[in-house]
Amino acid sequence: MPGKKLTPEVGNRKSKVILGIETSCDETAAAVVRNGVEVLSTVIKSSAGIHALYGGVVPEIASRCHVEAVAPVVQEAVNRAGVAWPDIDAVAVTQGPGLASSLVVGLSAAKGLAVALGKPLIGVNHLEGHLFSVFLGRPRDVFDNAFPLLGLVVSGGHTCWVAMPEPHVYKLLGQTLDDAAGEAFDKAAKLLGLGYPGGPVMEKAAKQAAPGWEKIVFPQGRIQPGNRLLGGLDPALCASYSGLKTALMYKVGGASCSPNNDETNALAAAYQEAIVGVLAERCEVALSRGGWKGLAVGGGVSLNGRLRVALQETCHKAGVELFLAEPKYCGDNAAMIAGLAGFGGGVEAGLDMDVAPGMKIK
Ligand code: KG4
Ligand code: ZN
Repeated sequence: MPGKKLTPEVGNRKSKVILGIETSCDETAAAVVRNGVEVLSTVIKSSAGIHALYGGVVPEIASRCHVEAVAPVVQEAVNRAGVAWPDIDAVAVTQGPGLASSLVVGLSAAKGLAVALGKPLIGVNHLEGHLFSVFLGRPRDVFDNAFPLLGLVVSGGHTCWVAMPEPHVYKLLGQTLDDAAGEAFDKAAKLLGLGYPGGPVMEKAAKQAAPGWEKIVFPQGRIQPGNRLLGGLDPALCASYSGLKTALMYKVGGASCSPNNDETNALAAAYQEAIVGVLAERCEVALSRGGWKGLAVGGGVSLNGRLRVALQETCHKAGVELFLAEPKYCGDNAAMIAGLAGFGGGVEAGLDMDVAPGMKIK
């Protein structure tokens, strides 16, 4: 990857104002963040409504929507922040992971702005942004004192457990080997005829389930040691959701699933419980290995009320603090990108920086 790690002077952005841009999937987002945690503005324009017609994100459409939205969204973020263009000290942008055709729109806009303003351009890993989102809106010293921290990213494209021994140091501990948690919700909602995106509608249906849904059992997604997809990761910290989806497919087989019928609600509740159970159990294992001050959970699925309660219990038992993002920072947003850059995260890069659709946590 081109670029260099931030120098301490550049990384020390204590009183700096950073403009963030995020276009990794179907949200065009811009935000202005001061001091790493003070969100002066955050603007998100989603094209999810259009993708709903197709039952999932259509990359070509998402990209075109970003092209139309990016300039007005950035302008609105700057206006709402009450800052003038020259007040912006750096432009941070999501470099990856995500859809190449979406990422490139945000990166091009960020490059243009960095050149026009004569300010540094900072490329940020979207997953690291999600993990940072829990600190937005809190005092700076919450971040300073939170490490060593265990991280869980639960989004539409990723589900992974990450060790963060100190700020800006990440090590992948485990992940789902197939579908991400959000994807598992999205696919189930499609099967049950509940619409897209699946997480919120599945949660709503689950809330309406009548007692007795607990009798429906779904697999727990355990990974056998020696699974060739593990790639050296610990099977106890990895999971699979594809069996869950197949199990749902079989259960739906004979059922008539229209929104809000009792059977749909019961299946949604049991399926949600299985997804949450898998996440909480792997967190429990990771936390039992000790040394953590807390668990930070970011990504769209962390909006799920049942998951929030389950992880609260897990952390309480483990005696560590649970860091959850405010709901407005759980899904894709640009405040997490600008905020992380405000603490010296990301990589300052030249105009040769390219998008990194497959960017990972190492
Ligand atoms: O982090 P995010 O906004 O985008 C990605 O980076 O993927 O996450 C989107 C995912 C979708 O799969 C969506 O169904 C899920 O988050 N999601 C939820 C809830 N709200 C959104 N999943 C479960 N419960 C929810 N309430
Ligand atoms: Zn995301």
